[in-house]
Amino acid sequence: MRLIIHRNYEDASRWAAAYIAGRINEFKRKCGRPFVLGLPTGSSPLGIYREFIKLYQEKKLSFERVHTFNMDEYLGLSADHPQSYRRFMMENLFNHIDINLAHVHILDGMTKDPEEECRRYEEAIAAEGGIELFLGGMGSDGHIAFNEPGSSLRSRTRVKTLTGETRIANARFFGGDPSNVPSTALTVGVGTVMDANEVLILVSGQGKAHALRAVVEEGLNHLWTLSCLQMHPRAIIVCDEDAAGELRMRTVRYFRDIEKETLGMFSGKPCGGN
Ligand code: GLP
Repeated sequence: MRLIIHRNYEDASRWAAAYIAGRINEFKRKCGRPFVLGLPTGSSPLGIYREFIKLYQEKKLSFERVHTFNMDEYLGLSADHPQSYRRFMMENLFNHIDINLAHVHILDGMTKDPEEECRRYEEAIAAEGGIELFLGGMGSDGHIAFNEPGSSLRSRTRVKTLTGETRIANARFFGGDPSNVPSTALTVGVGTVMDANEVLILVSGQGKAHALRAVVEEGLNHLWTLSCLQMHPRAIIVCDEDAAGELRMRTVRYFRDIEKETLGMFSGKPCGGN
């Protein structure tokens, strides 16, 4: 695992966006097939999405050959609901770039058959040859996508019941009332994320420091589902100093030292595979 600590959220976001843009551009030059990108919602990726839009406007990045799969969607929210993750993606990214919407995949929160929808989603990912890079955030309890504490580390796309902590954290998008936050969601599994060739997670703020310490310094543990990254051959956590605040000084020094040598380098093979 690489841990890249930046001074603040803006620097972390800029680095992550430039890294992913570099991967997409290199893939386009060398690999001759679409780049399959996994995407999250929430506050964490907003800085990256702003950078993507800027890079697109400056003609340094095109999404014409990028296919996307979002991590999750609330169950019971229609695509045009103001808080649906589809709407979030349209407003914060897709409306502003040259992506072909036929190549955008988001779980259907209004499905009549959630199990079938999840099965179909896994099939669609496989049909695209798997996810090249999964971008993600982390919940304050260390979860990835909606894989709440106690989720199987081999889980696949499925329905999950959200914890009280997650509903409180996300209440800010629902008029501040946790009871307005849907209690269930469709989410890719930990296993689905782990199958990506590369995983990049952005973590920001003091509120995430406790969980980041557990994920980086403690063992693999289903109570902190992002600790799955310890088993991933190409995982990068990009964070700000606030989020790194509970790491041991020794941990920080170690990761800073190795990044002096590798910063800016790609972690993976350009066309995926091991
Ligand atoms: C939700 C999402 C996650 C996201 C997390 C943190 O649980 N399902 O994908 O990482 O919130 O959100 P934020 O970035 O707003 O802190």
